[in-house]
Amino acid sequence: MTASESYDTLFSCAGRVAVVTGAAGLLGREICAGLAAAGAEVWAADVSGLEGLDPSVVLDVSSEESVVRALDQVVTRAGRLDILVNCAYPRTADWGAPLESEEYASWLANVDSHLGGYFATSRAAARLMSASGGGSIVNLASIYGVVGPSYEVYEGTDMTMPSAYAAIKGGIVSITRLLATYFGPAGVRCNCVSPGGVEDRQPDSFRQRYEALTPLGRMAQPRDIVGAVVFLACDAGAYVTGHNLIVDGGWSAR
Ligand SMILES: NC(=O)c1ccc[n+]([C@@H]2O[C@H](COP(=O)([O-])OP(=O)(O)OC[C@H]3O[C@@H](n4cnc5c(N)ncnc54)[C@H](O)[C@@H]3O)[C@@H](O)[C@H]2O)c1
Repeated sequence: MTASESYDTLFSCAGRVAVVTGAAGLLGREICAGLAAAGAEVWAADVSGLEGLDPSVVLDVSSEESVVRALDQVVTRAGRLDILVNCAYPRTADWGAPLESEEYASWLANVDSHLGGYFATSRAAARLMSASGGGSIVNLASIYGVVGPSYEVYEGTDMTMPSAYAAIKGGIVSITRLLATYFGPAGVRCNCVSPGGVEDRQPDSFRQRYEALTPLGRMAQPRDIVGAVVFLACDAGAYVTGHNLIVDGGWSAR
């Protein structure tokens, strides 16, 4: 065997079964496509929007019962679970209120469903993976779990960055490290991918200010996030666990 032959499957997910939560969303759809292109059997999981996504399973990350039921369904039907990508984005109807008027009950509800949901889904997946020799969990966090927002980019728009998001995403980075150390001996890796701002019809003034603060000079496209997820999911990332891989065009490097 030559050295190059031994790397043929380094970035392959062939033979692996993956579940992506939030699969009907902006990033979830691309991540499903990226994992499928790498050879995985990808199960799209979401509370809604699953029409046309096949195979799929209804999963509400804010209900541990729903999470456990959905992952069990996948294992029953696909035979195993090797990869979980947590990409759901639950939020209350008043999400996006300015800090001074964020309702405390709403703040708690968002932390509960989003941070709590990522924990419940990761733990349920890790238990299943532990029982079958291991696997890889990738949790979508954010640069705002690592750095504070630059609020000037929101000036003159209806947009802002809720304070709950910092608690949620910082918590996801932290709980991911804990899960990595807890489940590492069972062969389960657990990492984060932290995107910067992804272009999605934001006002021009926001985009221009955001891009001016980004060393690579542009917002992310959804496909920019996919390579990092596939890397952590496949054997190329086999010795990486407890890591937060920042994909932000250099935003947080300043
Ligand atoms: N878009 C960005 O700019 C950006 C930047 C950094 C991090 N992120 C993170 O990436 C992830 C995905 O973001 P997105 O922009 O694709 O969001 P999105 O709103 O486009 O999609 C989120 C998906 O989650 C699903 N969802 C909502 N509540 C759910 C629940 N209780 N159970 C299961 N699914 C549920 C929705 O139905 C939707 O399909 C989130 O963790 C988000 O915080 C996004």
